[in-house]
Amino acid sequence: MSEIYAKIAGVGKYLPEKILDNAYFESIVDTSDEWITKRVGVKERRMSKPDEFSSDLGAKAARAALENAGMSAEDIELIILASVSPEMYTPSCSCMVQAKIGAKKAAAFDINAACSGFIFAASVANQFIKSGTYKNALVIGADTLTKITEYKDRATCVLFGDGAGAMVLTASGEKTGILGTVLGSDGASGNNLTCCGLKASAEDIERRPFSDNYRTIWMDGQAVFKFAVKTMESATQEVAEKAGVAIDEISLVIPHQANKRIIDGARRRLKLSEDRVFCNVEKYGNMSAACVPIALCEALEQGRVKEGEKLVIVGFGGGLTWGSALIEV
Ligand code: UT7
Repeated sequence: MSEIYAKIAGVGKYLPEKILDNAYFESIVDTSDEWITKRVGVKERRMSKPDEFSSDLGAKAARAALENAGMSAEDIELIILASVSPEMYTPSCSCMVQAKIGAKKAAAFDINAACSGFIFAASVANQFIKSGTYKNALVIGADTLTKITEYKDRATCVLFGDGAGAMVLTASGEKTGILGTVLGSDGASGNNLTCCGLKASAEDIERRPFSDNYRTIWMDGQAVFKFAVKTMESATQEVAEKAGVAIDEISLVIPHQANKRIIDGARRRLKLSEDRVFCNVEKYGNMSAACVPIALCEALEQGRVKEGEKLVIVGFGGGLTWGSALIEV
């Protein structure tokens, strides 16, 4: 039997309408448009409505991806959704999306690998397709970080936004689609980026002197920054090697969008010109698991990668985690 590959059949995205610009942050914390632009590269981010949650965003992105793939929700056999901000412990966000879009024949579950989540989800879906278990899978990254952001903390509040992106993967008998994946975790360094759930340790409480809401994101920005630049470089190189593809053959690298300086740092280490690395952090900020699929969707919409060309998606985040996938479109 010939080998099966998971190919991209369609992509979609959804971004809430409300825009938070840098002037808004100048009005609520001691910051400036100049600092945010220079140190992070963000100009605007989107904010979901109070009654709009990750499953709402995820369902809208999923519908757009299905339409782009020319498929109906009932064609989908597997839904994997990555999020750090699902609105419920149970049902899972993926089950809520399943109900919203009417994907009655699908098995659905969530993955939490923070900002690397979409790549972890795509990698798991790839395994199900390669094994012949399922033909059509829906992979979603959906996050509403503005609901878990402390707006008194200038070091984090300027960074985050909300959004969702989705991708339909379908089985192919030809060697195309996902040609390699790399996943990694370093739980021992997890303390560098936390958002409390049922438990808040003494350290977690001490680190958030601004408020008694410990269900907000805290991070050691510089530690995460260094880790991010290094792992984006190594995960890109490793996945290219694994797939037997030279860096020169990759048309576009689509990284997680946390900070323009992180993207530029990794780009320089990989010796790539600016046009070979996708960046939209200016428009949306860091949307955790939603960054990579939204960037992938926009890169394909803009024709930045054409049929038969190769791209790498690469990300890093809380856990700590990192991942990459080499994909021929
Ligand atoms: O998705 C994965 C998770 N997150 C990340 O990938 C983020 C990784 N880290 C970063 O992107 C950067 O470390 C930050 C953008 C978070 C911070 O930038 P930085 O250049 O590392 O700044 P810093 O933490 O070294 O702080 C430098 C100064 C400090 O002031 P002092 O102590 O030098 O007087 C901060 O208090 O900048 C100050 N600062 C600000 N100033 C104006 C921190 N945030 C702000 C702000 N506006 N919003």
